Amino acid sequence: MHNSKAITRKDLKNKRVLVRVDFNVPMDDGVIQDNSRIKNAFSTIKFLKDAQAKIILISHFGKTTYPNQIQSLKIIADEVSREYNSKIIFVDNCLDKKANTIIKEASTDSIILMENLRFHLEEEKCDMKFAKRLAGLADFYINEAFSTSHRRHASIFAIPQFLPHALGLSFKKEIETIDKFLDDAESPKMCIIGGAKLSTKINLLKNLVKRVDKLALGGGIAGAFLSFLGNSSLKIFNSEEFKEDVKEIIKNSQSYNCELIMPMDFSALVSSGGAFHHAIVSAENDNATIFDIGPNSVELFKRHVRESKMVLWNGPVGLFEKAPFDFGTLSIAKDVARLTRDKKLISIIGGGDTSFAMNKFKISQDLSYVSTAGGAFLSYLEGTELPGIKAMKDPYVLT
Ligand code: 3PG
Repeated sequence: MHNSKAITRKDLKNKRVLVRVDFNVPMDDGVIQDNSRIKNAFSTIKFLKDAQAKIILISHFGKTTYPNQIQSLKIIADEVSREYNSKIIFVDNCLDKKANTIIKEASTDSIILMENLRFHLEEEKCDMKFAKRLAGLADFYINEAFSTSHRRHASIFAIPQFLPHALGLSFKKEIETIDKFLDDAESPKMCIIGGAKLSTKINLLKNLVKRVDKLALGGGIAGAFLSFLGNSSLKIFNSEEFKEDVKEIIKNSQSYNCELIMPMDFSALVSSGGAFHHAIVSAENDNATIFDIGPNSVELFKRHVRESKMVLWNGPVGLFEKAPFDFGTLSIAKDVARLTRDKKLISIIGGGDTSFAMNKFKISQDLSYVSTAGGAFLSYLEGTELPGIKAMKDPYVLT
């Protein structure tokens, strides 16, 4: 991002402002399961409401390429109206000529919500003509969708090329939080990385191992590392694919003085006599299917959390959705929350499953920062330049 200039509420009075939000909220049978992403954009919406700007919200919703009712943003319009305490004017086709008239006639008390952008193939193709048409509806563009900014899509990457632009207030806070952790954090700083699949976290681990003091691994990822270190016989861990990457991470943990913290016991289902029972096992047990880290590992992780000044956590350490396999994630989360409350720790949580777990445990409000982003959070932490940030060629700052 280049040097930026200030833009105030006064400058935006009566201006048409296109705000790219991420309303891709989790749904179950038409019911919103978590409205954090809607809440997340509120600071920018409030800024624009105070400015008496005309707010035009654009977002995708799910993975689709054609109009359908299930992925229509109309479903969430009532929730948006409640959260932003505003009347919502829904525009069911952003390319329709009527869109311009609707925007022109709308009062600044209401908010315009456009239909799912992915109903147009041009969105994902980053089509310039499509972007120009959308840009033509507004005077200013704000990207308040950090969680989609790893996508090189028209509404993320192309529209800012046609309009004066700025990052949303939450977006800015999110990257400042992560940057602070990576660049200026007080030592010791610790990362807890869990999750099922090693493939999605390899680049992340390669970057983090060079930048943090402690790296604790849980979930299937820990299993893969243990297997490469030669102290696991669990069949699930026997993946050869990432052998060289894991070797490099382990080698770099020594060169960069990063302490690798591995679980030493596991909570598992063990089969005997045709039935399964719950047991705490070591990694050498080849008769067990593991679902969580064990109590000794939990104590080990907690001790390292206590010794740290900052913790960044991505990926649950076990199957937190199902007791008793929620034990590891829940116990560590409670400690992280308590230490944060007591101002002894700064805690940053990111990734869909991890933030969902914190909401489920009802401790999100105690943590320093909970990101609503999944893939974008990972990409940013990996050190990749996000298309949504790259597109901010000559940005303004909302002040
Ligand atoms: C997300 O849920 O991570 C964002 O909304 C991006 O969605 P996508 O993976 O469908 O592009």
